[in-house]
Amino acid sequence: MARTPAPPTEAEKRLLAETARIPVARARLEHLFDEDSFLEIGADITHRAEGFGLEGRRIAGDGVVTGVGTIHGRTVHAYAQERTVLGGSLGQAHAAKIARLLDLALESGTPLVAINDSGGARIQEGVDALGGYGDIFVRSVRASGRIPQIALVCGPCAGGAVYSPALMDFTIMVDGTSTMFLTGPRVVRTVTFEDVSAEELGGGRLHATTTGVAHFLADTDLDAIGHARRLLEYLPDAWDRPLPDRAPEDPADRDISGISALLPTSPRTPYDVRAIIEVIVDRESFLEVQADWAANIVVGFARIEGRPIGVVANQPLVQAGCLDSAASRKAARFIRTCNAFGLPLVTLIDVPGFLPGRDEERQGAITHGSKLLFAWCEATVPRISVILRKAYGGAYIVMNSRHIGGDVNLAWPTAEIAVMGARGAVEVLFRKALADADDPEEAQARAEAEYTERFLNPRQAAERGYVDAVIPPAETRRRIAASLRHLRHKNTSLPTTRNRNLPT
Ligand code: HXC
Repeated sequence: MARTPAPPTEAEKRLLAETARIPVARARLEHLFDEDSFLEIGADITHRAEGFGLEGRRIAGDGVVTGVGTIHGRTVHAYAQERTVLGGSLGQAHAAKIARLLDLALESGTPLVAINDSGGARIQEGVDALGGYGDIFVRSVRASGRIPQIALVCGPCAGGAVYSPALMDFTIMVDGTSTMFLTGPRVVRTVTFEDVSAEELGGGRLHATTTGVAHFLADTDLDAIGHARRLLEYLPDAWDRPLPDRAPEDPADRDISGISALLPTSPRTPYDVRAIIEVIVDRESFLEVQADWAANIVVGFARIEGRPIGVVANQPLVQAGCLDSAASRKAARFIRTCNAFGLPLVTLIDVPGFLPGRDEERQGAITHGSKLLFAWCEATVPRISVILRKAYGGAYIVMNSRHIGGDVNLAWPTAEIAVMGARGAVEVLFRKALADADDPEEAQARAEAEYTERFLNPRQAAERGYVDAVIPPAETRRRIAASLRHLRHKNTSLPTTRNRNLPT
């Protein structure tokens, strides 16, 4: 997709000037960390490989800068690959530097940021390079769920340089300059004779909209660095460390009475659930994740009374908010990320069901939908939900219902909790009777009205205790804030296993 690049900002001009003097990797790290806080580790390390002219290309650092510093005053380990050194490719020494950094980050309980700009395993080093990726992958997976790992992709990346981000918690790409693919266009052409551009094969826009590989799409390198810094404001240093709370600036009882007007009066009219999220959470605290992929569900970080939370919400604006394979994968992953790092989950529900049809079934909707169910059933952090409008069928159960472990389940008076909508239900239940009726249309309308009166409200669920309270919309923020306070020391643990067997 052709785009006219925005003119460089002053900060970008400075970055470019610095880049001319010092390698790109070091400049990127300087911008990532708080000023003057970065300390490099192993700057003199070089490779010892020979052949293919490598002996004449021993460059201090071996194409990767590794080190430690502070971001918002908190310790973070980071590395950045340098494309101008052997294409940023990863040889044994380069890999050993990254593996050591991962060990340091895990042992000291700090987040890790990886700035990838690499063509993958260094071809000239053969199995030493492949083994180097193995050393990194195993450490990254063992650190998964223990320390936050954020990958930036700031250039053409291939092979291990894309698997490595995929094993981390978040991937940030740069529009127009970064690409991610297992094998680059030249290799593709040689092997399959397919002619495809780098952008088509693995451009940032593709990964942010179609594959979901990228969680954020930045405009520039500096913007990508800004995303990483902002993301860390919501994450703890490690899974067993406190959340980065802020002093509450936005009162829990702020007047939000305007919220009712955001829900259309007709249950069939779409609306943007993000407007409702923005009203409920602390002002300007919402950070949407994977905004342009599977937009029928919205996930993101926010704060309530200064404390980080994860938000999951059906989006009636897209596909009427139906759940499908991509939405299930997106939400499942986000729920598991929040659960790993101790962020309470707040869920807003308005879902007419799972998207039916041949395409969905053929994509493996059963397995993908199960991922979402699995993620909720496994989550032990505080879980609060509010049913705004529809909660139908399997989607009612899957969206953090009481039955699968929701802690506080609320509903607005407009909630409709049923196996399905009125029209579908009446057609299934009374098809024969309606056909035999003197006035089928009148009989259908009567049956639908009876069904609507009986089920399309939160009454039955509240009577059975599946909904804890039916609340006026204006009470939502206050009630969620209070529930988060009450659940703060919730302590549930699952039985230990080697691993639970996530549907894949
Ligand atoms: C050694 C490499 C390299 C690599 C690039 N270079 N990739 N050197 N090993 N893997 C070098 C080039 O030789 C060149 O060196 C310089 O980097 C820039 O590369 P160009 O091709 O000129 O750049 P560009 O046109 O921007 O293309 C970038 C690229 C392409 C798309 C990444 O270089 C490419 O396709 N590389 C191979 C990618 C790949 O297939 N990697 C998979 C490795 S296997 P000079 O000296 O000319 O400047 C792997 C397995 C891991 O990673 C395990 C996974 C489970």
